[in-house]
Amino acid sequence: MFPQTAPRTTDCLRPAPDGSGPAESATRFAPGPAATLARCRELVEPALRDAVRGLHPEPGRIAAHAFGWCDTDGRPSAGSGGKGVRPALAVLGAEAVEAGADVAVPAAVAIELIHTFSLMHDDIMDGDERRRHRDSSWKAFGTGPAVLAGDALFALAVRTVAEVDDARGGPAVRQLASMLAELVHGQADDVRFETRPWTGRDAVSLAEYRAMATRKTGALLGCATALGPVLAGAPARLSDALAQAGREWGLAFQAIDDVLGIWGDPAVTGKPVHSDLRRGKKTLPVLAATAANPSLGPRLERLLGGEAPPDEAGVKCAADLIERAGGRERALREARAWVVAARDRLRAAPLVTPRVDELVALSELLLDRQV
Ligand code: IPE
Ligand code: IPE
Ligand code: MG
Ligand code: MG
Repeated sequence: MFPQTAPRTTDCLRPAPDGSGPAESATRFAPGPAATLARCRELVEPALRDAVRGLHPEPGRIAAHAFGWCDTDGRPSAGSGGKGVRPALAVLGAEAVEAGADVAVPAAVAIELIHTFSLMHDDIMDGDERRRHRDSSWKAFGTGPAVLAGDALFALAVRTVAEVDDARGGPAVRQLASMLAELVHGQADDVRFETRPWTGRDAVSLAEYRAMATRKTGALLGCATALGPVLAGAPARLSDALAQAGREWGLAFQAIDDVLGIWGDPAVTGKPVHSDLRRGKKTLPVLAATAANPSLGPRLERLLGGEAPPDEAGVKCAADLIERAGGRERALREARAWVVAARDRLRAAPLVTPRVDELVALSELLLDRQV
């Protein structure tokens, strides 16, 4: 199934010697949250590399490429991995209930593995050729190997949590399993919404979008924030508050991702722009704009809903109409409201204040992200 001459993955799984590469994207943030992301990355990345090193060399090579550690030939590279938001949430969540990093690390590793697995498969479903400033896994290695590499990361994530040598591994695995079911449900809704019309009785409602995004993105962010506390045996009211805040951040995060999918710069985001519109995704800016201005729906149907995929001029015109109808501004406003709701929820809970402050600062900064 795989080429026999594949290079070993081990070299590129060593930490980047000069601190460049994977940490690069963290430096795009302002100092406070940048330091948080860097600190959490430093804590988690060695264990993440160790875990990936245990994979079969082929899925391991694809994973190392997706994490930004290697080029397509398996040579160490200083490319861009992800922002590392979810592992940071896992570390801060644990610290917010006075647990240590040793508890948080397996949770953070598992969450980042699941996130990267979901992106590998998502890029196949969405037909997106770029991710994290490089070819997406299916584009670089082929669809079959990318599916398998995603499966490998999924299995590794479950094993990472299941192997926690503690009675708390069980509840954590249950938490992980229910999050995965939600994520898949949300992803299935997202894909199904592509074929729903832009207007009329069967158009996707804002409530349906929010339910989809809560599952697709909120479930993983909620699990990220709560998994460390669950592993630490924290009281349920604390892990539940963190999980709920994570879900709210997920909604905000997806709203910003939706905005960047229409008005982002691919040179900055490292992934395509306009792909959501071309595929007929019912993203928040579109739904917020059509809710505010119902006459927009039929116009979008004409521009984007034909048999053939729309051309670039049609997509650009749709983006302008959505912006003029207030879709961009409304999506950003909704994202801000979710971040405020999460902040208020956490401030009301008996958590470690400096860690809550770090979580809040990170979530607020993510509102302004361009990547
Ligand atoms: C992208 O997540 C997928 C969404 C849920 C919107 P990120 O924007 O966190 O991706 P990376 O990990 O930084 O590449
Ligand atoms: C990603 O959703 C969420 C999951 C993979 C579960 P999107 O498709 O909206 O994210 P991007 O824009 O490709 O990163
Ligand atoms: Mg998708
Ligand atoms: Mg996608």
